[in-house]
Amino acid sequence: MSDSIESRLKEDRRFQPSEEFSKQARVASHAEYTSMYRKSLDEPEEFWREQTFDLVFRTPWKTFAEWDLPRAKFFVGATLNLTESCLDRHLSTDGRTKAAIVWEGEPGDVRTLTYWELHREVLRLAATLADLGVQAGDRVAIYMGMVPETAVAMLACARLGATHSVIFGGFSAEALRDRINDCGAKILLTQDGAWRRGNVVPLKKMADEALASTPTIEKAIVLRRIGPEKCPAPMKEGRDLWWDDALARRPSEAALALAKNPPAFDAEHPLFILYTSGSTGKPKGVMHTTAGYLAGAHVTTKYVFDIRPGDLYWCTADVGWVTGHSYFVYGPLSCGASVMMYEGAPNAPDWSRFWSIIEKHGVTILYTAPTAIRAFIRAGDDWPAKHDLSSLRLLGSVGEPINPEAWTWYHRVIGGGRCPIVDTWWQTETGSIMLTTLPGACYSKPGSTGLPSFGVDIAVVKDRGDECQPNEGGKLVIRRPWPSMARTLWADDERYLKTYWDVMPNVYFTGDGARRDEDGYFWVVGRIDDVLNVAGHRIGTAEIESALVSHPAVAEAAAVGKPDELKGQALVVFVTLKAGHDAKDLKAKLAEHIDKEIGKFARPDAIRFTDSLPKTRSGKIMRRLLKEVASGNAETKGDTSTLEDFSVLAKLRADDD
Ligand code: WT7
Repeated sequence: MSDSIESRLKEDRRFQPSEEFSKQARVASHAEYTSMYRKSLDEPEEFWREQTFDLVFRTPWKTFAEWDLPRAKFFVGATLNLTESCLDRHLSTDGRTKAAIVWEGEPGDVRTLTYWELHREVLRLAATLADLGVQAGDRVAIYMGMVPETAVAMLACARLGATHSVIFGGFSAEALRDRINDCGAKILLTQDGAWRRGNVVPLKKMADEALASTPTIEKAIVLRRIGPEKCPAPMKEGRDLWWDDALARRPSEAALALAKNPPAFDAEHPLFILYTSGSTGKPKGVMHTTAGYLAGAHVTTKYVFDIRPGDLYWCTADVGWVTGHSYFVYGPLSCGASVMMYEGAPNAPDWSRFWSIIEKHGVTILYTAPTAIRAFIRAGDDWPAKHDLSSLRLLGSVGEPINPEAWTWYHRVIGGGRCPIVDTWWQTETGSIMLTTLPGACYSKPGSTGLPSFGVDIAVVKDRGDECQPNEGGKLVIRRPWPSMARTLWADDERYLKTYWDVMPNVYFTGDGARRDEDGYFWVVGRIDDVLNVAGHRIGTAEIESALVSHPAVAEAAAVGKPDELKGQALVVFVTLKAGHDAKDLKAKLAEHIDKEIGKFARPDAIRFTDSLPKTRSGKIMRRLLKEVASGNAETKGDTSTLEDFSVLAKLRADDD
């Protein structure tokens, strides 16, 4: 696939925005983008004052930023309750009647919550949580599917200043338990089950398994989504409460008053913790704070998605990932947008589901991932052809590099050749979009993720920190702190400093390799650390390896990525067994073991048994060589001078199936 990116690159194709789009866009030309970008770096104080005028601050900020790297604070001195920007402020305009969330369940049920209703639901849940003893600074875990209540839960926490940690519903009981224990959550919000491709994901059942060993959890609040027939959910006396029962009780006057007139918090108050994979077995609790995160999500949503009155914006990401946090909940709601939310799988009941949703509800902006686009391509053009997609006016892509073939298909078949595509590069840690092309203002190059967002000083550098020449590959780094950057890793500040700030002095290291072309456009190649991107899911090789090694039959394991047409990268694991264990029947057992330790989405695409793994003389597994074996490369590229035993490699190659 990378070969075709290279060959397309040579053609240097540019897609100019249409005049029609530019005429109405917020930023209408490349020159205007450049001057705003310059201002964001040269006069940040002034820039952010102008750009945050519509956010609600209780106490205005004194200074935009104070930093002493790697520490940085933004909107210093400000206080705010972030939910007032996302909810209350819209009630005085059209929020009583305007849809905040248009939701479609997988079975086809539809619900719309206006801003008024969303606000009301958030207040009711916030009051209930307050009565259960939730206070500012407490952690609340959210293990739910794609239902409006997940957004309600996040906002109710934010209303009280409680720090939420959403754990993706695809994670297993063990993964949930580890995350709850790491952040010390007091309350868990969950649901009986969630619909996925016609099946029920038994969230409450998995939560029960997790809660057997989570000493900090006092209460679990359980939403009824599926019902007892298809998804029995036994309730534990004293610990578990049904969501509707809990909300039906009249909250105390004090809790009601608190929810209605919520306190304001410091700009740097922790808003959420979101776990993501890194290069060790333990997931990282990326922590974001309030004002800077909100400002980043708000400003990028406004400009990158060019949200206007009348739009119905759909970000297809699960709310359990950062894209769902920033571009389904906080960014769009802070802009007063109407957002589409869909519960289930893109191929339930068939591959036309997304296109039927777009036609039925009139979606105008679609933000999805290359892995989904490639799956749609494979399913065939007949599915989108069955539907009228003319409501769409803008398309977005996120999660991994989009190959030019997929870009072109997305543009032609879904966008009808008229919709600009914004390819957005960012990370859980960056909080908001760092690289993209503003629609209507800048041309795009298929496969390139474009230009820096406002306030982002980003560069491709060599190991010692010198900037690379145009088109020279290097490390992608950010040279100046930005408002929505993660402030730490929960309970592991040392790792925060080490992972992001100690790689090169005074710059943030992204973990990605990239190059910048002669027009200043960035081309992200992918991770250069031990992190894989499998179907848009970020998976740490060490995480998979430690899960495998925890199986009684496994002695050693090495996980590597292999190029895959559909998933971008496929996960291949090499396993050596302990004496007395037989590989027979073990493949299925190890796959199930991964399901249990991490979640089904992390299941290896191939498991290969071997007598030994290639290692350096100092005992480090040489993943680079395994990657070549996994990819079926006949020749060994690069330096193997440190390889301890060549026969290991020869044997692996001979075994290649
Ligand atoms: C990693 C971050 C933040 C959105 C979802 C993923 C890769 C993300 C792009 C893009 C090329 C991309 C990078 C990055 N990535 N977007 N547009 N082009 N690569 O968040 O799980 O924190 O993963 O995803 O490798 O470092 P995440």
